Amino acid sequence: MTRRKLVAGNWKMHGLSSDLGEVSVISIAAETLRADVALCLPATLIERAVRKAPGFAIGGQDVHQADKGAHTGCISAAMLLDAGARLVIVGHSERREAQGETDADIKAKAEAALAAGLDVILCVGESDSVREAGEAVATVSAQLDASLPASIDDASRFSVAYEPIWAIGTGKVPSIADIGEMHEALRQRLVARFGEPGSEVRILYGGSVKASNAAEIFGVADVDGALVGGASLKSADFLPIVEAAAAAA
Ligand code: PGA
Repeated sequence: MTRRKLVAGNWKMHGLSSDLGEVSVISIAAETLRADVALCLPATLIERAVRKAPGFAIGGQDVHQADKGAHTGCISAAMLLDAGARLVIVGHSERREAQGETDADIKAKAEAALAAGLDVILCVGESDSVREAGEAVATVSAQLDASLPASIDDASRFSVAYEPIWAIGTGKVPSIADIGEMHEALRQRLVARFGEPGSEVRILYGGSVKASNAAEIFGVADVDGALVGGASLKSADFLPIVEAAAAAA
């Protein structure tokens, strides 16, 4: 099974109009590299980024499960599409924690986004105490089972990102063996749930990915790309990661 690698940047709550030049540089370089590339931006930048980089995959970082309604501050899938977004992240651990999102919420968000026509990156990952207790694989597998959409019509539009919470923004990364063990377990869950299409779903790794560790991480079986936070803000940091993904393809 050859799955084309996907490297998605997650700008989180960073980025103003003055940063849109980075989107242009990344989008132009991405055209020549054999990997799929996307940037998930703050909602305020999506439309302008799409204008600046037509044809390049711009995404959001969250979506509400309802079509519309009395949900102050929230954004629907139709609104993201209307702004020109092609994809969205759901279930990032920062939202699971700070906004109290449950697996059931995330399942509903993934289903709403896919049904509307957005590609989805669904995040899962364990805390450091769960990892230290030796329960990482069981916990993340259960989280995946409970957050997965009921069905996926097109496996190329749905990805899972394994992001150990303790590795996000900390510079700490699990061992290559631990990444491999987790991705293999998640692959088994996806195939158990969806059958053959489960083997086509891309499983990204996220958490302190940078130019210096990307090649090694992309060499792990069942690592089909990366979700990159801090190192996605500047093209000089992000593009070497995309190049490593293209070289590993
Ligand atoms: P990081 O963030 O690359 O800054 O660790 C990854 C993420 O939270 O998606």
